[in-house]
Amino acid sequence: MTPMQNKEIRLASRPAGVPTLENFQFVDTEVPQPASDEVLVRLRYISVDPYLRGRMREGKSYIPPFEIGDPIRSGAVGEVVESNSSNFKAGDLVGGMFGWRLYDVAHAATLMKVVPGVSPTTALGVLGMPGLTAYFGLLDIGRPQEDDTVLVSGAAGAVGMTVCQIAKLKGCRVVGIAGSDEKNEFLQSELGVHATINYKTTEDIPGALREACPSGVDVYFDNVGGKISEAALLRLNHQARIVICGQISMYNSSEPPVGLCPQPFLLVNSALMKGFIVTDYAERFAEGVAQLAEWFVSGKLKHAETIAEGFDNTPQAFIGLFAGDNLGKQIVKL
Ligand SMILES: NC(=O)c1ccc[n+]([C@@H]2O[C@H](COP(=O)([O-])OP(=O)(O)OC[C@H]3O[C@@H](n4cnc5c(N)ncnc54)[C@H](OP(=O)(O)O)[C@@H]3O)[C@@H](O)[C@H]2O)c1
Repeated sequence: MTPMQNKEIRLASRPAGVPTLENFQFVDTEVPQPASDEVLVRLRYISVDPYLRGRMREGKSYIPPFEIGDPIRSGAVGEVVESNSSNFKAGDLVGGMFGWRLYDVAHAATLMKVVPGVSPTTALGVLGMPGLTAYFGLLDIGRPQEDDTVLVSGAAGAVGMTVCQIAKLKGCRVVGIAGSDEKNEFLQSELGVHATINYKTTEDIPGALREACPSGVDVYFDNVGGKISEAALLRLNHQARIVICGQISMYNSSEPPVGLCPQPFLLVNSALMKGFIVTDYAERFAEGVAQLAEWFVSGKLKHAETIAEGFDNTPQAFIGLFAGDNLGKQIVKL
């Protein structure tokens, strides 16, 4: 029996600067009917992610923009209510891409059953897209070697804290940059990060990096861009690797970025700087999830989550990413 009441959150207007609640609109809608090979899902957890900000602006990117009036779509986990696919039955917990809705339909081929025996929210964090981003970005591009110094910006977020821990598993010295003393305390005491910098209270970031990375930086995992990443360029070692994962400090800016040119620093250090999108590694996702799950279940890899309660708080949870309200993966529980 299909329940009748549904609700969705649409893009009401394109944000100018940091998104506000006015950029979102709540609309009552019908519960959709699943077609052949489709599944009707009642959403339980929605992932809010920084990259959604990019989809709210017009113009070409690696993924098409949302149009005004479109429901926002992101990763989510939910319970199958009705299934027209032999692969899923009512009650199954599945992860996939969904609209910000109470109920949504998805093609069965786009869904994955949630890893059993662990919290379903891990499918949105440490065992999902952010975990895979950390895994492939660090290991494939950063190629950390034992005793390397690995510097991570956005270190207390979903991707960043996974990077810190994988780097530690590889025997590296890890330095994290995050936006509060509480986050840095968590990185050091819970995850064993060797040194941390609070970029919001540190005036001289190059000086703080000199102190925290006395032997220079072999791998810089860049989640934020801007001034922090300029300072990292000054500490590069010979054949350093810079992994460009995210540039969140610029996501709300409409101006083209200006700053230090990286080329001279790459040249004199024979260094590599490479961007990537996690879906570049889609064919290897099963390998990544298997390794992350093994580390997670054996206690070698920890996670943290910040869970906002209630569907209506989804836009605010998203906006909070740009103020650093989250420790670890930001999720909304419906
Ligand atoms: N390449 C890919 O395929 C891929 C995939 C996933 C994510 N990403 C990128 O990776 C980064 C992290 O993503 P995530 O999902 O793990 O998010 P997250 O780190 O869990 O959340 C975002 C964090 O960014 C920090 N932040 C916000 N504004 C900032 C600013 N102006 N300067 C410096 N830090 C700022 C905040 O922490 P503080 O308190 O420390 O400021 C906030 O908690 C993002 O840039 C995202 O776009 C890339």
